[in-house]
Amino acid sequence: MITYSSVLSSLKFLVLALAVVHFLPLSTALAGEDYGGLPPGKGRQTTYDACNACHSTMLVAQQRLARDIWEETLDWMVEEQGMDELDHDERAEILDYLSTYLSEDTPR
Ligand code: HEC
Repeated sequence: MITYSSVLSSLKFLVLALAVVHFLPLSTALAGEDYGGLPPGKGRQTTYDACNACHSTMLVAQQRLARDIWEETLDWMVEEQGMDELDHDERAEILDYLSTYLSEDTPR
């Protein structure tokens, strides 16, 4: 039987569900859990930590570069933009990440 109160509680549920659906992406973005658009993959956390210090990693995620151009970009960050020199392992991990998941062949 459809009663006023059952309609009302369905409506409440609907409003709540919509609120949750709308709020989730926002809260994820605010918490920085979306890694500024960096695609998932090995080395993402290291890359995020190193590159998010000065600018949004959206700036990184929108690029599609060959490995040697990524190398030049890292050198440029260090030589001209004031990034601390990465240690050997960290640099290798970041370069592997960038040239695997943000290569010229990665679809946009
Ligand atoms: C110490 C600060 C700093 C850090 C750390 C840093 N960057 Fe940057 N980056 C900059 C600045 C400043 C610019 C803007 C340079 C300009 O456009 O003149 C920039 C710009 C860029 C751009 C945009 C280039 C373009 O063509 O517009 C890319 C790509 C980039 N950085 C990649 C990286 C990556 C990858 C990392 C992490 C390994 C990183 N950055 C870490 C300071 C930094």
